[in-house]
Amino acid sequence: MPALVAPFLPAGSLSARPQPRLSGRGLSLRPWADEDIEGLVTAYTDPDIQRWHHCSLDAEEAAELILHWRKAWDTEGGASWAVVDADDSLLGRVGFCGLRLSEGVAEISYWVLPDARRRGVATSAVTSLARWAFDTIGLQRLEIRHSVANVASCAVAVATGFSEDTREHTGRVVPDGSRDPPPGVR
Ligand SMILES: CC(C)(COP(=O)(O)OP(=O)(O)OC[C@H]1O[C@@H](n2cnc3c(N)ncnc32)[C@H](O)[C@@H]1OP(=O)(O)O)[C@@H](O)C(=O)NCCC(=O)NCCS
Repeated sequence: MPALVAPFLPAGSLSARPQPRLSGRGLSLRPWADEDIEGLVTAYTDPDIQRWHHCSLDAEEAAELILHWRKAWDTEGGASWAVVDADDSLLGRVGFCGLRLSEGVAEISYWVLPDARRRGVATSAVTSLARWAFDTIGLQRLEIRHSVANVASCAVAVATGFSEDTREHTGRVVPDGSRDPPPGVR
C-alpha cells in the first residue's frame, strides 16, 4: 500500500554512519565492546535493573545482547551505548528503543550501575544522547516511558527536561510477581 506521507527521516539516516562516540559531562557514550560482557552480567544482577528491565543475563546472553545492539544500529531499529568514565570503566547504559525514523521518534532507555548512581550519570548521558538525536540525526520527538512507581527514573525525566504527556497503566507483571504500577499508584 503506498504511503501518503513522506518519511520524516529517510532510511540510512543512522546506518549510513558508524555508531559515534558521544561526550557528556565527565563521561562518554561509546558502542558496546566484547570486553563489556562481564560488566553487563554484573549490571543485570542488580535488583533495580532486574525489576525495571525485566531480565537477568548470563555471559552468553550478554554477548548476544551486544550483537543485537550492533544489528539494531545497522537495521535502524534502535541503538545502545555503554556509558563509561574517563578510564573507560562501565557506568551504565543509554540508548534508543522503539526508534522510528519514518516518524522521527525514538524512546530513550537507560540504567546506571548501583555504585555510580546519584552522581548525575543518567542526566548527563540522556542529555548528550538527546542533543545528538535532535541536532545531528534530526529526530523530532524523544520519549521516556517509565513506571510512575520508579521514582528515580521519574526524576531523571524531570531533570532532563522531558514533559509529562500521558500516564499509561501497563499492568505488566514485574519480577517480584506484582503488577506495574502497584495498586494505589495512579
Ligand atoms: C534511574 C537511574 C538510571 C538514575 O540514574 P542516576 O545516574 O542515579 O540519576 P542522576 O544521578 O542523573 O539523577 C537524576 C535526578 O534523579 C534524582 N534521583 C536519582 N535517583 C533517585 C532516587 N532513587 N530517588 C529519588 N530521586 C532520585 C536525582 O536526585 C536527580 O535529581 P536532581 O536533578 O533534582 O538532583 C538509576 O537509578 C537506575 O539505573 N535504576 C534502575 C534501572 C532503572 O530504573 N532504569 C530506568 C527504567 S525506565
